[in-house]
Amino acid sequence: MRLSQFFEQTPVQHVQNYWNSRPCNIRHSTKPVGSREYFDEVEARKHFVEPHIPGFAEFDRWQGKKVLEIGSGIGTAMINFARSGAQVTAVDLSDKSLELAKQRAQVYGLEDQISFYQANAEELSQYVPIDTYDLVYSFGVIHHTPHPERVIDQIRQYVKPGSTVKIMVYYRYSWKVLWILLTYGKGQFWRLNELVATYSEAQEGCPVTYIYSKPEAKALLNGFEIVDMQVDHIFPYYIPDYKQYKYTKEWYFRWMPQPLFRWLEQHFGWHLCITARVPE
Ligand SMILES: C[S@@+](CC[C@H](N)C(=O)[O-])C[C@H]1O[C@@H](n2cnc3c(N)ncnc32)[C@H](O)[C@@H]1O
Repeated sequence: MRLSQFFEQTPVQHVQNYWNSRPCNIRHSTKPVGSREYFDEVEARKHFVEPHIPGFAEFDRWQGKKVLEIGSGIGTAMINFARSGAQVTAVDLSDKSLELAKQRAQVYGLEDQISFYQANAEELSQYVPIDTYDLVYSFGVIHHTPHPERVIDQIRQYVKPGSTVKIMVYYRYSWKVLWILLTYGKGQFWRLNELVATYSEAQEGCPVTYIYSKPEAKALLNGFEIVDMQVDHIFPYYIPDYKQYKYTKEWYFRWMPQPLFRWLEQHFGWHLCITARVPE
């Protein structure tokens, strides 16, 4: 059986249970969960470790615009869109993540600018009223759902000619995939998809993690005009230290000249960041 078939058959409930058991980035701060200091630190750590995000999201560009975020998690991008003056619709499958995202909106006094929906994005229109958005944003989400193409089909109902769609999916030809294959798989490339799903996230055992080549990502976004496609992000830190909130690089990255590290990130990074437009 092809593993994609295995992913396709995964009940979405398993995906929800996984993200409820540990919402994404929930341990990015040691401050009391839900406090202002906590959310400040979560954001600081996220943008320290993934510094390409603000450039990709272009938060300021959406001032006064309507943004639909699919898979908003605990709301780091969501709060930045709202802070920049966008009207945001935040959707996530995980009610635990949404609970924190709602708290976050309250903490910063931005709740009037954000509507929340707990929904499976594969069936978005059953939960979120159809409307047209200037931006549909989804960072690190679509590859975790059993049928990514269904999410893209749903997105088509929420855009108009000229709308922008920004999506990040994991990149197949990446350092991280190679690292997982060598570290956990002892080179068993025929188990690649299973290994990637097991080890792709901070918590082992993610039920669904697809990886995409550039042509596969283009095919997924069939009908959208691809404006930009960038590979970025290698996590360079030694994980045991990182869990202690210390940022010690792995020895091989410590000695690598920064321009070489950037070159590696831009060619073999883990994030395939795609900006697309709905043709006029
Ligand atoms: C890796 S986290 C990313 C969260 C956020 N975008 C960020 O960058 O911090 C993936 C998120 O996707 C959500 N998700 C996965 N499948 C989904 C689906 N079918 N519908 C809605 N959300 C989904 C999960 O609940 C989780 O919050």
